[in-house]
Amino acid sequence: MSFSYTEPQADGGETHQVADDRIATLTTQQGIPVADDQNSLKQGVRGPALLEDFHFREKIFHFDHERVPERVVHARGYGVHGFFELTDSLSDVTRADLFQRVGERTPAFVRFSTVAGSKGSFDLARDVRGFAVKLYTQEGNWDLVGNNIPVFFIQDAIKFPDLIHAAKPEPDRNFPQAQTAHDNFWDFVSLTPESFHMIMWIMSDRAIPRSYRTMEGFGVHTFRLVDVEGRSTFVKFHWKPKQGLQSVVWNEAVKINGADPDFHRRDLWDAINGGNFPEWELGVQLFDDDFADSFDFDVLDATKIIPEELVPIRVVGRLVLDRVVDNFFAETEQVAFCTQNVPPGIDFSNDPLLQGRNFSYLDTQIKRLGSPNFTHIPINAPKCPMAHFQQDGHMAMSNPKGRVNYEPNSWGAAQGGPREDPVRGFTSFAETADGPKQRVRSESFADHYSQARQFLISQTAIEQKHIGDALVFELSKVERPDIRSRVVSHLLNIDATLAETVADGLGLAVPDRAVAARAPI
Ligand code: HEM
Repeated sequence: MSFSYTEPQADGGETHQVADDRIATLTTQQGIPVADDQNSLKQGVRGPALLEDFHFREKIFHFDHERVPERVVHARGYGVHGFFELTDSLSDVTRADLFQRVGERTPAFVRFSTVAGSKGSFDLARDVRGFAVKLYTQEGNWDLVGNNIPVFFIQDAIKFPDLIHAAKPEPDRNFPQAQTAHDNFWDFVSLTPESFHMIMWIMSDRAIPRSYRTMEGFGVHTFRLVDVEGRSTFVKFHWKPKQGLQSVVWNEAVKINGADPDFHRRDLWDAINGGNFPEWELGVQLFDDDFADSFDFDVLDATKIIPEELVPIRVVGRLVLDRVVDNFFAETEQVAFCTQNVPPGIDFSNDPLLQGRNFSYLDTQIKRLGSPNFTHIPINAPKCPMAHFQQDGHMAMSNPKGRVNYEPNSWGAAQGGPREDPVRGFTSFAETADGPKQRVRSESFADHYSQARQFLISQTAIEQKHIGDALVFELSKVERPDIRSRVVSHLLNIDATLAETVADGLGLAVPDRAVAARAPI
C-alpha cells in the first residue's frame, strides 16, 4: 500500500502525515493497515462513536493495560548493557565457565537503582544504590544482585518486610516519599541494633554518590566457589570503579534533586553515548573454612565485612558498560534479577538473608511480570543453549517441540531429549547441616557495634562530620523524642563523641546509658 507523504512543515504547512515507500504503513496489532488514525468511527458527522471500531478499541484497550506493578523495592532504576572480561583465571577454585579462560568476554546487563523511592522519585535521595549484574554465561545466567554498600540492615530475611515497610512512606500520610528521615524508619532502626553498622554507611557520603559510574558494588553475602572436585572456597565479590569513588555533599544533593531529578540516569546515558564507557574491576576475597572459623565475626552475617587487610582482594576481571538500551520498558523495567540464578561452580552460603532472597525474587517477579514465562523475554533469556520441559502458562513463547514433554521417556535420542547431565550439571556443595529445628539466631551474630565503630574511624575528619550532620538532619525530622534518644543511646556504643555531637545538634541530653551492647537473641 502506498500513500503520498508530505514532510511536516516548521512554518505550519501540511500536517497530515501518511505512509509512502519510505515510511511504513501503520497497522493494528493484527497487521490490518490503518487508513485514519485521527478520528474514531462515528454514525454521522457529529453522531455517537461505534462499538464496531476495532482500531479505536484495540488502541485504547492496549493503553489501559500499559502499566505493570513497579518493583516492591528498587523501583527506580536504570539499566545498560556491557560485558565482563576475565583477566585472571579462577580455575584453581571454581569450575564456573565464565571464570576459566583469560580474555574471554561474557555479555552483561546492569541495573543501578535506589531502594526506597517510587519509580518517579529523584536520583539523589540518601539511600542505598542497587548494583544488579546479569551475566549471560555459557552455562546459564548468573545474577550478582548487589548494592553499593557492602553490608545490610538486617541479618535474617524474615525482617525484610518490616524493614521496607518502615523505610517506605508511612501508610496513613504516604510521605516522605523517598527518604528515611521519618519516625517509622528510625523507630524500626532504634529497635534493631544489628542495623547500626549499615546506618553508619547510610549516613555517610556513600549514600549520595556523584554518579552511578563512581560507585563501588558488592555482592554483600559470603558465597561459595566450587571446583571440579567439589571443593568449596568462600568468596565475597567486589566491583571497584576505574572512575574512582566520588560522592556529592548533602547541599549539592538537595539542589540537584530540585534542578534535575534524573541526574544519575542522564549522566550514565550521556557518558555511554559519548563513548566514555564506565568500567569496574571485579575483585574477590577468597577464604577457607579455617579462616571463617577464626574470624571475630560470622561470615554468614550480612551486617559484617571481611576487612581487606585480613583477606586482600584479588582482581580477576573487568566489567565495561558500553551500550544503552533500545527501549527502557522492554529491558530495564522487564529485567528480572534473582540471587538464586547461579551457574555450576558458584553456590550459596547459609547466610539467612541470602537464603530468604533466593525465595523472594522469583516470587515477586511472577507477580510483577505476570507469568512464569518472563524468562522468555529477551532481556531475561539465557544466551546459551537451553532445553527443558517447562510449558504453557501465560504468553508461552517456547514450548517443548514434538511429542515428548517429560523425562525419563522411551523416545530415544532423536525425539526424547533433553536429558540430565551428571558431569556438566549443577551440583550443590555437599555441606553438612545438623541440629534441632528451631527459630534462632546464632550467638556469633551478636556484636552489632564493633564494625560500625571501625567504619566510622576509617573515615576522614570531614567525612565523619558529614555522618554527624546527616544523623542530626535525619533525626530532626523525627517527631517522637524517645525515638531520637534511643538512636543516640545506640551511638554511645559506637563512639561517645558522635553520640554527643548528635545529641547536641538535636538539643537532647546524652542518655545516661547506652543500649545493651549485646542485644538479646
Ligand atoms: C530488588 C539488592 C535484600 C527482596 C533488589 C534489587 C537489588 C537488590 C539490587 C534491584 C534489582 C533490579 O535492579 O531489578 C539487595 C541486596 C540485599 C537485598 C544487596 C541484601 C544484601 C533483600 C531481601 C529481600 C529482597 C532480604 C527479601 C527477602 C527484593 C525484592 C526485589 C529486590 C522483592 C524486587 C525484585 C523485582 O521486582 O524484580 N534487591 N536486596 N532483597 N529485592 Fe533485594
